[in-house]
Amino acid sequence: MNSRRKFLQNTALGGMLAGSSDFWIRQAAQFDRPEKNAFPVVIATWGPNLKANEAAWEVLSNGGRALDAVEAGVKVPEANPRDSSVGYGGFPDREGHVTLDACIMDEFGNAGSVSFLENIKHPISVARRVMEKTPHVMLSGEGALQFALSEGFPKEELLTDKARQAWEEWKIESNYKPKINVERHDTIGMVAIDAQQRIAGACTTSGLAFKMRGRVGDSPVIGAGMFVDNEVGGAAATGLGELVLRTLGSFLVVEEMRRGAHPQKAVEKAIRRIVQKYPKEVEENQVGFIALDKKGRHGAFGIHKGFNYVLYQRNENRVYEAGNVLG
Ligand code: GLY
Repeated sequence: MNSRRKFLQNTALGGMLAGSSDFWIRQAAQFDRPEKNAFPVVIATWGPNLKANEAAWEVLSNGGRALDAVEAGVKVPEANPRDSSVGYGGFPDREGHVTLDACIMDEFGNAGSVSFLENIKHPISVARRVMEKTPHVMLSGEGALQFALSEGFPKEELLTDKARQAWEEWKIESNYKPKINVERHDTIGMVAIDAQQRIAGACTTSGLAFKMRGRVGDSPVIGAGMFVDNEVGGAAATGLGELVLRTLGSFLVVEEMRRGAHPQKAVEKAIRRIVQKYPKEVEENQVGFIALDKKGRHGAFGIHKGFNYVLYQRNENRVYEAGNVLG
């Protein structure tokens, strides 16, 4: 029996997962000096998103609102044709269509979301318009597109040559198998706290490469892909959306923090919940969470090795490796 299977079996038998939580809290605690310049702060999933953090910081360091910061931040990978899991350049579904999911939340608990949206480069900005200009939280598919067009967003082809080529190659075997930590990026989730301690979050993705047409993941679902409560903090998810949807992971992280957990403990709890409930599926699939609490403390954790995140705090923007359960 390999050690991972043995580990999972122990877990299924009710033992606590053997993550070295205190180590990761110590890592997170290196930056936990909320009494000293903790704000503003922004955290995002995946190392390549340093530039997304920079765009958010530009807003935050000029006294701007966290909501504007997270929108500006996640628009960076949305516009990047080299990012194959977000926005323009995202890999398509199995029929060759790039379909996008995104959500956003502000300090008042307002939320907006779009799912299964095509031909709009910045789904996060459409999600914000849904939040600010409609009586609804979520618009989907054709309705979301019509709303975006009515708001003046241009209709654009989002399938790049690189993504089309990847799809043509995938079609040869048509074997649907999400990969762990593809190119060490995936969905971007971002949480920010501004100088006035207003918290906001955003999440945006093209979803799983070569998914079924119509598949929607966790990223546009408030509480799954992202959740913010201004009294507590915020969290966001990346990785296999089906695992996050079934556990409402970001909501769970925030509720753990509400009960007093350090953000690092909270994200570990959410990952362990997934591992305990879905021991077979986690063997081949990754999920990662990031979190910030109201004090400006942070946490990050994944199922597998390889999940990293970017934190911009006290004028320093850096990539950090997250802890993990399964190695
Ligand atoms: N977490 C992104 C997705 O599964 O679509």
